[in-house]
Amino acid sequence: MKRSIVLLLAVIVVLSGFFNIIADNYGAAGYTLYSDIAAYINNYPIQAYNIDGETVVLASDLKNYGFDISWNAQRRAVSIARSGSTVIIPQTDVYRNAKRAGQYHKKFVLSDIAAEIDGIPVKCFNIENRAAIYFKDLDRFGKVEWNAKTRAITLTVEGLPIGKETETRENPDVTLMYAMDGRTIVVGNDDVEAYKNVGWYTDISDVTSTLYANDGRSITVFRDEIAAYLKVGWFRTRPGEKMIALTFDDGPSRFTGAILDQLERYNSKATFFVVGSRVGAFSDVIKRENELGMAIGSHSWDHSKLTKLSKTALLEQKNKTNNAISAITGSGTSLLRPPYGATNQSISEVFGMPIILWSVDTLDWKTRDKDTTVRTVMNSVKDGDIVLMHDIYKSSADAAIELIPKLIDAGYKLVTVEELAEAKLGGLTPGQKYSTMR
Ligand code: NI
Repeated sequence: MKRSIVLLLAVIVVLSGFFNIIADNYGAAGYTLYSDIAAYINNYPIQAYNIDGETVVLASDLKNYGFDISWNAQRRAVSIARSGSTVIIPQTDVYRNAKRAGQYHKKFVLSDIAAEIDGIPVKCFNIENRAAIYFKDLDRFGKVEWNAKTRAITLTVEGLPIGKETETRENPDVTLMYAMDGRTIVVGNDDVEAYKNVGWYTDISDVTSTLYANDGRSITVFRDEIAAYLKVGWFRTRPGEKMIALTFDDGPSRFTGAILDQLERYNSKATFFVVGSRVGAFSDVIKRENELGMAIGSHSWDHSKLTKLSKTALLEQKNKTNNAISAITGSGTSLLRPPYGATNQSISEVFGMPIILWSVDTLDWKTRDKDTTVRTVMNSVKDGDIVLMHDIYKSSADAAIELIPKLIDAGYKLVTVEELAEAKLGGLTPGQKYSTMR
């Protein structure tokens, strides 16, 4: 009798070392860490949670999927084992995204109880006082696979019923956001703006770029990975692909809309360097430029020759224009085209934006002739060019309408100045002057 008590104490001492490790980082209960990925067992959805980027599932949920869950009071452990019992699949919908705002946790929420699969200890987490385990630890029972495209993790267990493939649904109350390094986070819709301010994006295309190889392959990578890929034979442009940036100065005007129609029709982009004082009167045009993904740049507040202005006056030119644009689009501009292309050090300093000049000057303001403008562009345009036009003349708008399909036929992709810089130079540097992106 005495001996068995000693033995039991010895077992407790040995095991408590193990449990201490588990309990070490015991986090506050009450978190709900819903995941932004889906989890399935034999095609049946199971609610997934996210702890530090890893998928976990509740041990108690596994009861419905053909597993026996029991409590071992002596070891304070949840035991998970395969059972021969009937599978009861839950009827509830499983959201891929969080049901309410998720949090990105840097600390494990480890449990003060243990979990074991077939008697082998596995990490145990505490989610609202329920035991949860890594989904990947279920690989003891079958094959665990990750599908990056559907963002789903699956466990296939032989001998258990296999359900129909279910579709995952987005949750309308939350938004999935992305970081440049590929991290994701699920936030409540109310928090989206706050997250945007600290480097999170709602559109995955804002954090990824497509790269191309000379043999025709393409790959989409996170922005932070681009430099590494460029070193090993990937390129920002398709082999042989040509790109140019059409730019329009002095607007907006009543002719801008026709140019936008044509750009939209041909799925093309351009950059509009607007005069700040005109913006308010054509707010619908600015709004549409923004919605269509055009770039909007500053062409000063009143078309002053900026080289003649004091720093105070320059700052006023910058801020008034930015505020006018921002009042409509929600954000100011980060591109400057100084009127007359006149620039100096003070302008670079005060504006703190890349200064965009041009490599093809159509002189459309002077000729006011559609055919001459079209001919000038088609005769001189080359890959990486920045084309200067003005959207305040009907002849220029007519020329643009003709040029857009012509340039596309000639193999050019029409992009914004920022996209051209991104493709050809890897981005823009504030204060630097650009007349071409070759
Ligand atoms: Ni101008």
